[in-house]
Amino acid sequence: MQKRRLTFLITAGPTIEDIDPVRFLGNHSSGKMGYALAKAAKRAGHKVLLISGPTDLEPPAGCTFIPVRSARTMLKAALKFASQADIIIKAAAVADYRPQKTQTQKIKKTATRLTLKLVKNPDILKTLGKRKKSTQLLVGFAAETNDIISNAIQKIANKNLDWIAVNDVSRKDIGFSAGENEITLISRAGNLCHLPKQAKTKLASQMIRLFVMSWQNKQ
Ligand code: CTP
Repeated sequence: MQKRRLTFLITAGPTIEDIDPVRFLGNHSSGKMGYALAKAAKRAGHKVLLISGPTDLEPPAGCTFIPVRSARTMLKAALKFASQADIIIKAAAVADYRPQKTQTQKIKKTATRLTLKLVKNPDILKTLGKRKKSTQLLVGFAAETNDIISNAIQKIANKNLDWIAVNDVSRKDIGFSAGENEITLISRAGNLCHLPKQAKTKLASQMIRLFVMSWQNKQ
């Protein structure tokens, strides 16, 4: 059988939610895992669309690079490109909340107490799950600190995923800015695949191979 060139849509990095022109809400995501997945998919001969929040990384060569900033701009880009994708991987660490209002001028330190009102951001993965085509494979990430496997299993059902890649973000030696990670992949059918601690680049190649096989089984 001839190998088909698939289209991957991958999101990576943090989202940034502006408070005023000089301050923002962010998170510790470095983008390394998402970029490693984009490079691995490209190396395997696939077309890659990479939607990324701000990171210090170079956009991977040969990928279509779509830079975004906030959760809402990431959602807009994801919705624009999702229908083209065979496999969607949501590795980005999306901010769950954003300031209710972004101030256009710098907030001065006149008040003794300052309360920042936050509102919920759209859940990008859940939105993509609702629109998922029967031929598409949708993969989410779960950043967990406790009840890791049961929390991740709930996310599979809640967001209509085919796979979830689970990270233990309470560990300092893996995840976020580290070069290495350890991941447990859980399928919708409840199969578990543990990928031991190793370089994110190596993990990424294994994950891409597994997702391509899973996509083939779905067709
Ligand atoms: N995600 C998303 N949009 C959001 C929040 C999360 O698309 N507004 C995606 C992430 O990219 C990830 C998955 O949902 O693939 C799980 O993210 P995670 O932070 O683990 O879980 P949440 O759904 O945000 O739930 P909670 O923070 O309560 O664990």
